[in-house]
Amino acid sequence: MPQTTILKIEAHRLFCELGAQAGLAVTDYRCGAEWIKDDRNRLHIVQRYDNSGAPSVVLKFAQRPVDKEAFGRILDAHHGAQAALSGSELNTVPQILAEDRCAQAYLMQYIAGDTFLELCRNQSNHTPLLRKAGAWLAAFHGGTFQQKRPFQPRFMVRHMGKLAGQMRVGERRISGQGQFITYADRIGEFAGTAEGHIGTIAAKHGDLNAHNILISDHATAGFDFLGTDNAPVAYDIARFLQSYTQLVGDMDDLKTGHAVPQRAWDAFFSGYDLVGADDPTVIFLSKVQILTDWNRMQDKTTLKSLLRLERLKEIARQAFT
Ligand SMILES: Nc1ncnc2c1ncn2[C@@H]1O[C@H](COP(=O)(O)OP(=O)(O)OP(=O)(O)O)[C@@H](O)[C@H]1O
Ligand SMILES: [Mg+2]
Repeated sequence: MPQTTILKIEAHRLFCELGAQAGLAVTDYRCGAEWIKDDRNRLHIVQRYDNSGAPSVVLKFAQRPVDKEAFGRILDAHHGAQAALSGSELNTVPQILAEDRCAQAYLMQYIAGDTFLELCRNQSNHTPLLRKAGAWLAAFHGGTFQQKRPFQPRFMVRHMGKLAGQMRVGERRISGQGQFITYADRIGEFAGTAEGHIGTIAAKHGDLNAHNILISDHATAGFDFLGTDNAPVAYDIARFLQSYTQLVGDMDDLKTGHAVPQRAWDAFFSGYDLVGADDPTVIFLSKVQILTDWNRMQDKTTLKSLLRLERLKEIARQAFT
């Protein structure tokens, strides 16, 4: 039997188990939509279950990799974020209805709306969307604020130096690595006033890409948290804005020395109010994020991934000039 068929059968079994735990009449629900992530490292399924007489729910089941501790941290982060945002109707996190940490599955509330990415692809004015995403992230960081701490760029500078070193000796190979090494060697030059800047530390979403935010007319929801780390808020901001830029950013508005188009940057910071648009840690980490994404770009086979790499190289050319 194909592995995705087995995955679907197991997902349905987990839906019945978790749905019963949550007090749902599981036999009245039908699977209405599903997303499968099947790559070298991961086999995940997300399914929406609908019932004409009750709200829809979403099952998420991560069959691979098997790492119960990491999965537990994902759930802890999700619960933490939900608690932090529980007072807001505008900025939310889907409520978890039941979970099975051993099976690596959970059932949550379905959020109506479209992903930030789908909305950006379907409308030319991204300003209101970026503002809403910024507001959601500010609510999440504000609700999980830990402390203020001086920022130390040297960890990322060292990390990039290490990657470049591995590439030089042939231990690691990526597409366009000659160019990557040039930029990685120079990343320290861009730390500027980020060094020692008193930054804001809060919970880190860890994987805030353009498709992990759902927006409707009434609310914005974030999901798919990666773990329970606390970190400078600039990491999530840089990750989100880089994902946006690489996928749908206006390249004509990307100025020399910048990692993100100016209008998009300003729109995001019209919603994000914990640190300003001139924050040196965000400016520095936005450049670091380009290299992080470049280093992780493994798939060199599909046209989509080749086009994404070309866009990334163009962004890097602007950012590191
Ligand atoms: N609670 C929810 N309500 C509505 N839609 C959801 C919900 N959770 C997930 N989705 C939808 O399912 C898709 C995949 O979910 P999720 O991001 O959790 O899976 P994933 O396997 O981690 O995907 P990726 O790695 O691409 O982010 C989302 O992009 C979203 O469209
Ligand atoms: Mg996701």
